[in-house]
Amino acid sequence: MEVNHTTTGGNKAEKMKTIGARQGSPLACIKFWVAVVSTMLLILWVCTIQLATLDDKIMVRKSAFYFPSFPPQRVYKNNGYLIISPNGGLNQKRLGICDMVIVARYLNVTLIVPKFAHGTYWNDTSTFADIFDVNHFITFLRGEVRILKELPPEQKRKAESEPLYYMFPRSFASLEYYLEKVLPRIQKHEILLFAQTDARLANNGLPEELQRLRCRVNYKSLRFTQPIEETGRKIVTILREKGPFLALHLRYEKDVLAFTGCVEGLTKEEATDVKEMRYSHDGWKHKPIDPKRKREHGSCPLTPEETALVFQALGIDRNTTIYIAGGEIYKKEKRMADLATAYPNLVRKETILKQVELEPFLKHADQMAAMDYIVAVESDIFIPTFVGNMANAVEGHRRYLGFKTTISLDRKLLVSLIDQYKNGTLSWDEFSLLVKKTHEDRTGKAVRRKEIPDHPRQEDYFYSNPQECLPPFAQPSNNI
Ligand SMILES: *[C@@H]1O[C@H](CO)[C@@H](O)[C@H](O)[C@H]1NC(C)=O
Ligand SMILES: *[C@@H]1O[C@H](CO)[C@@H](O)[C@H](O)[C@H]1NC(C)=O
Ligand SMILES: *[C@@H]1O[C@H](CO)[C@@H](O)[C@H](O)[C@H]1NC(C)=O
Ligand SMILES: *[C@@H]1O[C@H](CO)[C@@H](O)[C@H](O)[C@H]1NC(C)=O
Repeated sequence: MEVNHTTTGGNKAEKMKTIGARQGSPLACIKFWVAVVSTMLLILWVCTIQLATLDDKIMVRKSAFYFPSFPPQRVYKNNGYLIISPNGGLNQKRLGICDMVIVARYLNVTLIVPKFAHGTYWNDTSTFADIFDVNHFITFLRGEVRILKELPPEQKRKAESEPLYYMFPRSFASLEYYLEKVLPRIQKHEILLFAQTDARLANNGLPEELQRLRCRVNYKSLRFTQPIEETGRKIVTILREKGPFLALHLRYEKDVLAFTGCVEGLTKEEATDVKEMRYSHDGWKHKPIDPKRKREHGSCPLTPEETALVFQALGIDRNTTIYIAGGEIYKKEKRMADLATAYPNLVRKETILKQVELEPFLKHADQMAAMDYIVAVESDIFIPTFVGNMANAVEGHRRYLGFKTTISLDRKLLVSLIDQYKNGTLSWDEFSLLVKKTHEDRTGKAVRRKEIPDHPRQEDYFYSNPQECLPPFAQPSNNI
């Protein structure tokens, strides 16, 4: 949309320039006219955006002001209002929003701008509009679904005078579920609240046009607010000046250790510390976990020390700039020592930006995560050390942008190789060769999403490989 607008502005500016030139005006005059026209267009554009987000009646009245680049509003019989309360960290919320736009589109309901669930572990009080450009979200999608900032007055009064009808949609639910089980409830109650939105829509089995809409929502309609975008871009620019860089999502934070129950590399006291944290959180497992088995199954995040070994085995140059995305590393002073020795150019947003530049975001985990997201998507190589929404979302976005290298570590095999190297069963060269071989084909190249009917948790996540939105997949030939 913006691109079109700029083009329009450019054309007009061109004409002005020609007129100016014919009259033999100096360059300053041309610049002046270009500036005037650009400013006028900008003002007009801002007004349009504002109007576009007001309610229907006003939109109709002022519709003459629309630029043709806005999609025409989709006309449909409204079946009710959907309020969603996305939960979890930034990326879990983000992907949940994408799914809910699809659901709203499919059920012909009006979506209210997401109201984030607070009181989650991260304690972030950011609203949707603090993180995403809300006006862009609404106008970009107006050809698909009607999105309002608030319920219309009548529904608002109703919502304030009686308890909202709410439900938790089923995980990885099909469209039929939404049509048969959810739509009747919306029709009955007029307003429905989804109390959680994480992974509530199937990965597969949706019409291709809806799968592609999932991508447009994710990669086009959700745009970070200007302060976040500018600060994130600034980090990228500074990193780029030094050359290529690798983004490492080092998920070695206390909460991860607590909810996974993984203890590799922890002292007894530390293990007790994180275990207590697990038991203090509702919704995290309150039963004993077998950490050894968990690690052997590849279900633990790599430790910083393991990460250093794996990077060296992969042959990653010692001088590579490594941007560490993610929160505070657990016991970072001692646990980061190996990695810092092996890779002296370790950076984080806190070391790249001045304190005052980060200040506005510091108390907002989701906004800090948004900056990591921007840097990770832009990096030359992205390597997450654990599964999760950030890893999935960034990997998928990088595929969408043309298969930028994402190395998916085979944790299950790696921990076994690491143990064999450590106890002398494997020499360094053998270890390194095996690590390299294992990851030759795990670089984010085009592959088909793994589908396992009836086991959605074990199949590839839609957003990590949105193949319906990527160039057609070349089938491997069966010729011998
Ligand atoms: C939604 O609206 C379209 C027309 O725009 C119609 O074909 C479709 O059946 C409607 N679906 C529902 C669930 O109301
Ligand atoms: C969130 O707040 C609780 C209670 O104040 C605190 O214990 C917890 O450490 C906070 N979480 C984070 C990530 O800061
Ligand atoms: C790494 O950087 C150091 C110091 O700048 C330089 O002496 C060395 O040659 C570099 N190594 C490689 C492999 O580029
Ligand atoms: C080395 O570690 C591997 C993996 O844990 C194990 O299978 C093997 O038996 C160990 N070998 C020795 C000599 O300790």
